[in-house]
Amino acid sequence: MNRELKILAIIVILVGITYWGIEPYAHSVMHPHHEPATFKYEDLKPLNVKGDAARGKEAIVNNGCTGCHGIEAAGFPAPMDPVTASATYGVNPPDLSNIASVVDRKFLANFIKNPVHAALLEHKFSDSKPYPMPAFYGSDQDLADIVAYLESIAKKDISTREAYEVACMRCHNLKYDNLTVLGEKPKFKNDVERAEFELNLAKYEANLQNYLGTTPPDLSMYIRSRGPEYIRDFVENPQKILHGTAMPRVGLTEAATEKVIKHLEKVGDRKKEKRERLGVWVLLYFVILSVLAYLWKKEIWKEVI
Ligand code: HEC
Ligand code: HEC
Repeated sequence: MNRELKILAIIVILVGITYWGIEPYAHSVMHPHHEPATFKYEDLKPLNVKGDAARGKEAIVNNGCTGCHGIEAAGFPAPMDPVTASATYGVNPPDLSNIASVVDRKFLANFIKNPVHAALLEHKFSDSKPYPMPAFYGSDQDLADIVAYLESIAKKDISTREAYEVACMRCHNLKYDNLTVLGEKPKFKNDVERAEFELNLAKYEANLQNYLGTTPPDLSMYIRSRGPEYIRDFVENPQKILHGTAMPRVGLTEAATEKVIKHLEKVGDRKKEKRERLGVWVLLYFVILSVLAYLWKKEIWKEVI
């Protein structure tokens, strides 16, 4: 075997050890293995009662849901502005118009019945520190009616941005998309308006921090630092990945989670497609360069060897 082949063999072996040995090992230490998300919410009981949407509308009002939640699609405006709501409940209760477009049916029923249990927050809330949304003590029929009603008003095909707004916006900023925990950042006419908005944002964030015990991160760059699989698994069951975390299980369907991830990719990694397309050309360039370099080397050394 000539010398160059030996050198090549050594390089290939070293690269191989790094690629198939060291890298996966480091990865497994930094990201311990967990079961991939199934979105079946198997720990929750199914609701085996057929609901009636018309009765559900009455039940939602009678049970006080609209005392905290807006349902814009049905003509119920939010009872409070986000800052006042956060001062009262710690966080702004989400508008329920499209909640059933993103939240799994079984999860929704379980969350209404016992939010702390469904959100996997039993380690954070108790009778002495109650969760801001009360548990529902009505009949299973009323519960099924409420779920049927929420399903009847939810848009069938919401955008990736709307999915994010319904599911995540009340806790996370997404500054690269001009979205804050208060909603879309408006165009300011003057500095007074800007200062007022910033002040409200700071108040909301302080209330949220007080409620959650920690500040939820701005998600603009998380798709790059964590990657889509991590976010998918984390959203399905935050406790499985960060034990004891203050982030609730929000109970999204698989399709809605994909939408949220798509949106985070659009916002945080706008150049992904372009980069992948360009990658092929860069590799081709290196192949051609290697062939030329080899031919050039042969030409120069032909008289010596
Ligand atoms: C006293 C105020 C209050 C009342 C009454 C209330 N909620 Fe809520 N609800 C909240 C708050 C606050 C949150 C957000 C909690 C959080 O994210 O930590 C919330 C969250 C939700 C969510 C989001 C669940 C998820 O997956 O993220 C749904 C759905 C919901 N409420 C439905 C209802 C329904 C239906 C009723 C009536 C039976 C109701 N709520 C009554 C305050 C209330
Ligand atoms: C009720 C508030 C709340 C909602 C709603 C919420 N989160 Fe969070 N999230 C948190 C908190 C609090 C943390 C910080 C957790 C910690 O440090 O333990 C967090 C952390 C995260 C992280 C970082 C995890 C890590 O590895 O550090 C990601 C990613 C995330 N959330 C994604 C989402 C997505 C996507 C949604 C919507 C589908 C969402 N969150 C909805 C409160 C929330």
